[in-house]
This record gives sequence, structure tokens and C-alpha cells, in this order.
Amino acid sequence: MKRFDSLKVLRNVGTVTINSPESIMLARDKFASLLELAKNHVPIPETAMVEDPREAMTLTERWGEVVIKPLIGSLGLGSVKVSDPDIAYRVSKSILSVNQPVYVQKYVKKPDRDIRVFVVGDEVIGSIFRFSNGSWKTNVAQGAVAQMLTISSEIKEIGLKVVKAMKMDYAGIDVVEDTEDNSYKVLEVNASPLWHGFKTATGINPAKFIVKHLLEMIKK
Ligand SMILES: Nc1ncnc2c1ncn2[C@@H]1O[C@H](COP(=O)(O)OP(=O)(O)O)[C@@H](O)[C@H]1O
Ligand SMILES: [Mg+2]
Repeated sequence: MKRFDSLKVLRNVGTVTINSPESIMLARDKFASLLELAKNHVPIPETAMVEDPREAMTLTERWGEVVIKPLIGSLGLGSVKVSDPDIAYRVSKSILSVNQPVYVQKYVKKPDRDIRVFVVGDEVIGSIFRFSNGSWKTNVAQGAVAQMLTISSEIKEIGLKVVKAMKMDYAGIDVVEDTEDNSYKVLEVNASPLWHGFKTATGINPAKFIVKHLLEMIKK
């Protein structure tokens, strides 16, 4: 919060900051982000926040397989995939016992990869597949391997819609390919994405685009 306030102070005295403090805050909260995306007709998985462990059980029964993940988190750390309603009960009960929110999402049946889309300003600068290394998580930090992906018009549309909905200057967007209904679903939006894997796979350096965008904003 202190850093967030510092950014606001800078912005209030006329300093250009990107991303804006508000959009950084929004992107940090995975549930709030997805609410915003759903409102703007961006496809997302079935997602819920619950306060009763029995509700987590019911959702696991309904959705078959769920991911219970930290509301604020990154690198795939701390997310668990659960198909046994009793395990969902136990996991959510322990999360609630330390006063943390229980964020539950339907597990999207996907190939062993996801798509990271990189957007700067109103341009999708590139996208990659992240192939997992035996894990259901496709974070590079979890051992996934990045491979360049040619941007399709559908991916481009999703990327631009997300950034517009979240009022961001740049973002790394996680998209999964839902093999059940053959559609894309956005999992989360990163306001300070790591880009080592992206840069290595595509040869594109996001920093150049971000600086160019920033300079354009300063000139305005
Ligand atoms: N609902 C889901 N269905 C399928 N895979 C998921 C789901 N949620 C997360 N994952 C997998 O776990 C990874 C990490 O989840 P994500 O929501 O992006 O959080 P993080 O901030 O930890 O990266 C995703 O890239 C994806 O591979
Ligand atoms: Mg992610």
C-alpha cells in the first residue's frame, strides 16, 4: 500500500507513471480483474470466491476439477488442483483459518501449454506458447518452456480488449485453450510481467516498446 500511495503521490504532482497505480492494484487482485474482464465480454473460466468450505466442496462437485489459488500471487506458487470435494473442504478451511480469501476456479481442460500475450499500448507485440514440463502449471518459473507463436486475429482481439478493459499501458496476459468448447479463456493479467522466456523465444524486447510508449505519453 505504501508503494501504491507513493505512485499516486508521483502521479498527483504530474509525473507520468505506467502502469497507473489503479490498474496495478486491479491486476493484483485476480478476482476483481476477471470481474472487469467479464463485464467487458472477455471470456474467462467459471470463477468464484467463497467464505464457507462447504461451498468449495459444492463447486468441486459441480465443476469436477478446480484450482484453488491465491487471490494475489504469481509464478504459479501456492495454487492447488483439486478434484476430491473433501480435499477442497480441507484446503479452503485452512485458508480461511488464516483469514485469507478462498478463490476457486474451474480447471480448464487444456493442452499441456498456455498462451502468454504481451501488449504495449494498443499493440500486441508478441505471443508465446508456454509448454509445461509435466506440471499442470505453465509458468516459466515452474519449468515451462517458451516457444514463439504467431499472433492470430482472435488472440490479438483478446489482448487489446483486456488492456482496454483494465486501462493498462502494458500487460502480460495468460490465456488457456479450452479443449472442451474449443475457445480461449483468460486466466489472469500481469501488470509487471516477467519476460525472460518471452524475449528468448521471440527475440522481442518488451522494454523497447514500453519506453517508446512512455515517451509518447510524456509528449502528450
Ligand atoms: N483454471 C485453470 N485451468 C487450467 N489451468 C490453470 C487454471 N488456473 C491456473 N492454471 C495454470 O496455472 C498457471 C498459473 O496460474 P495463474 O492464474 O496464471 O496464476 P500465477 O499468477 O501464479 O501465474 C497458469 O498459467 C495455468 O497453466
Ligand atoms: Mg500466470
